[in-house]
Amino acid sequence: MVGTKIDGNIIAQSVKDRVKKAVEELKTQGITPCLATILIGDNPASATYVKNKHKACEEVGIVTKDHKLDANVSQIQINEIIENLNKDNTVHGILVQLPLPEQLDEFVTTSRISPLKDVDGLTPHNTGLLSMKKAALVACTPLGIMEMFDYHGIDLDGKNVVLINRSNLVGKPLYHLLLEKNATVFACHSKTKNLTELCQSADVIITAVGNRDKFTLTPEMIKEGAIVIDVAISRFQEKLVGDSDFEQIIQKASFATPVPGGVGPMTVAMLLKNTITAASLSSQIGR
Ligand code: GUN
Repeated sequence: MVGTKIDGNIIAQSVKDRVKKAVEELKTQGITPCLATILIGDNPASATYVKNKHKACEEVGIVTKDHKLDANVSQIQINEIIENLNKDNTVHGILVQLPLPEQLDEFVTTSRISPLKDVDGLTPHNTGLLSMKKAALVACTPLGIMEMFDYHGIDLDGKNVVLINRSNLVGKPLYHLLLEKNATVFACHSKTKNLTELCQSADVIITAVGNRDKFTLTPEMIKEGAIVIDVAISRFQEKLVGDSDFEQIIQKASFATPVPGGVGPMTVAMLLKNTITAASLSSQIGR
């Protein structure tokens, strides 16, 4: 059996089309949605991600404010920049690109962002709301994956989902979103025993390891007709790869995402959607 490719570029475009209409609607109400990004240091991958985010904003009519900071910026300086953006009524979303240089604390930094402008869904306020099914702003990659399931009419009710990641940006928010859909979620990580057996019995595998020297999801590790969502992207043998080889895994899976062109474009599309949500939230509280 050859499965169906879940094409992130096509699904992301459908999200962007909806966002573009929402931007036009907000503009008729006198609100021009604006995303402020903060990029610290000279990590080339982060610079590319931020550039892609700006380009996508431009495509749908979202204004961007770009803050590029020196790698040795202090915690006090970054806190002050975030405070100023929190107070700036023309800014609706704030994104601090991760990872941060060593001297900066990720929790301290992201916690400073106003929960109403937290388009990454990383503040304690928004992560708490997510665990109670009340979040308005949720991390972009998990949201994008849920959008992919929706697009293909994939019902998660009662499904066994193996999640191979426990990060704040991917694994933890996904855990809650999947539970909300009545999936049984196995939250796996580097210390999990019997990962192969767990994968072999899973209806859905969402993998985000990103280190081919340590981990590859092979066709032998999945059951016939499983759904494979590959979140990872890393360079391996001169190529950009995920945790699995799409061409091989799709021979056995019912649905699978390629890398590149799978989850990546969805992360950007959902950032646009979150920025619109944040702009609407600010209008509801009269700013
Ligand atoms: N670095 C990798 N992915 C992300 C993301 O979704 N948001 C932020 N802020 N940084 C990232």
